[in-house]
Amino acid sequence: MKKIIALLMSICVMTTMAGCGADVEKQDANISLQQTEEDVQMEPEQTDQAGEQSSDTVETKPQETDTTASGENILVVYFSRTGEQYTVGVIDKGNTAIVAEMIAEETGADTFEILPQEDYYPYTYKELTDVAKQEQNDNARPAYRGDVPDLSEYSTIFIGAPVWWGDWPMICYTFFENEDLSGKKLVPFSTHEGSGLSGFDKKLASACPDSEVLEGLAIRGNDAQNDQDSVRASVKEWLTGLGH
Ligand SMILES: Cc1cc2nc3c(=O)[nH]c(=O)nc-3n(C[C@H](O)[C@H](O)[C@H](O)COP(=O)(O)O)c2cc1C
Repeated sequence: MKKIIALLMSICVMTTMAGCGADVEKQDANISLQQTEEDVQMEPEQTDQAGEQSSDTVETKPQETDTTASGENILVVYFSRTGEQYTVGVIDKGNTAIVAEMIAEETGADTFEILPQEDYYPYTYKELTDVAKQEQNDNARPAYRGDVPDLSEYSTIFIGAPVWWGDWPMICYTFFENEDLSGKKLVPFSTHEGSGLSGFDKKLASACPDSEVLEGLAIRGNDAQNDQDSVRASVKEWLTGLGH
């Protein structure tokens, strides 16, 4: 009997330690989320070929403004790149696109992808970072294309993008400034490799002062590609917190 009790106690201790380990991992992730762009090493991992932006990705999904389960019309707007990407190599679906699709699936929302009017963004990571930096330095407003759905139909708009140099890609600012987002609930989300939400919420609120900006979500780009079950769980938890 004593042996059985001793065995049970040691199982309890091991279980508790495993729980601590998980907490430590969580803390590490939180520390990374506070990293600034300077902390993030921008060197891409080696890949053997450049990716190509698939022409399949340029189509905007048909917009049906069906009411979602929460009783609201919801739109998910996102910008995302395929090609060579930091830590994940060459990808044929962008990290942010994966998260955007999950949000749309979980809420029953429509989607709209922000695509550049002229796709001059390089497919290789290093070159892409140079172009993005230049756009940021120039405070550029790159044009996007496609028919933006009638935003008056939507009360809540999720807006997501990769963190580029600690900020929204400049093309997103074009969208914020061109479109009438006043009176909407805006919900930012990012994918990143260390910078977390990188102030997306505050920057969105300054760009759209007449909108209400709700709590955002930051997902590691690598997780979006390689750990989709846990990303979906995070998305669901976040959506539940938002009332969806
Ligand atoms: C131009 C560029 C700049 C980036 N800057 C940052 C950054 O400042 N902080 C960060 O954590 N990740 C940065 N990244 C990594 C991306 O945010 C990350 O890989 C993201 O998941 C890519 O999403 P996408 O596949 O939807 O484009 C950068 C990537 C690129 C291409």
